[in-house]
Amino acid sequence: METARALVAGDKGLLAMDESTSSCNKRFARAGISQTEEARRSYRELIVTTPGLSECINGAILYDETIRQQKKDGTPFVKILSDAGIIPGIKVDIGAKALAGHPGERLTGGLDGLRARLQNYSKMGARFAKWRAVIALSHGIPSRGCIEANAQALACYAALCQEVGLVPIVEPEVLMDGEHPMGRCREVTEEVLQNVFAQLYTQGVMLEGIILKPNMVLPGLTCATQETIDEVADTTVSCLLRVVPAAVPGITFLSGGQPGKLASSRLNAINVRFKARSPWALAFSFARAIQRPALEIWHGEDANVSAAQQALYHRACCDQAACRGEYDAAMDEPMLPPGLIGGT
Ligand code: G3H
Repeated sequence: METARALVAGDKGLLAMDESTSSCNKRFARAGISQTEEARRSYRELIVTTPGLSECINGAILYDETIRQQKKDGTPFVKILSDAGIIPGIKVDIGAKALAGHPGERLTGGLDGLRARLQNYSKMGARFAKWRAVIALSHGIPSRGCIEANAQALACYAALCQEVGLVPIVEPEVLMDGEHPMGRCREVTEEVLQNVFAQLYTQGVMLEGIILKPNMVLPGLTCATQETIDEVADTTVSCLLRVVPAAVPGITFLSGGQPGKLASSRLNAINVRFKARSPWALAFSFARAIQRPALEIWHGEDANVSAAQQALYHRACCDQAACRGEYDAAMDEPMLPPGLIGGT
């Protein structure tokens, strides 16, 4: 319970840096960076050594490869994070695979042998874990079969985490791909969360010791109607209020591929409108929405490390401001050289 509260304390959030090797390589390939273990290590070193990161970030989610890695001078990443006051966490699912009998749907795996893996990660210094279920939205899906199978797996994972003293981050992600209207995303998100909490209850999971990591309720990416930031905030929180028990200490949204500034703006509106009366902290656990500019600036070059770290720190600060309801798009305006301020 103490760790769960610490993960969302002080209007800070989580940094997801738990891309699997193949996801990380895909992002590197798109950015023109070589896809080697050393490139992945260097990039993660850049992230964990970013000056000031702990001012905005309470916890960092690592991947199996990353939790075993060190800085060039041999200092383990877990030690660098812990010394900076950032709680190390670990992604423990092994990804979403095709669900038998349900074309187009997936079930997240990783329960076999999980107890021993969690014990091992705990010895390595992890204090929380993450498991992501993926729910696609299209004609005729999601099915009950997909929702129930994923909810049950999430609950079994959460119970195992609590058995070894790790806080489970419970992440049922309703994907934003598609042309569905926002109302459909709301219906599905509500149904998924109802099932997840019913299963958490059935498996005896202590709700005071979990963090929920849901999607924001959004219109499909290619839907012709794109609601305003305030409408997204209202729909998201009114959906969550119907299904997330007040015992849960924090909700940390995933970004799901939203651009960084838009994710900050939507999180900000959520807090401007609901922070004062929300039973849970409303924070973030972003990967792409925090990392994207930094990755592009770094481009695999040592000479760009400091500029990339500044970009990472900047996005994390914007998201912390959003947790306070104090983010302003002006924070993202490019800085003008002093001579030009007030000029034409
Ligand atoms: O599981 C997904 C990540 O932890 C969050 O990633 O913010 O890029 O959606 P995202």
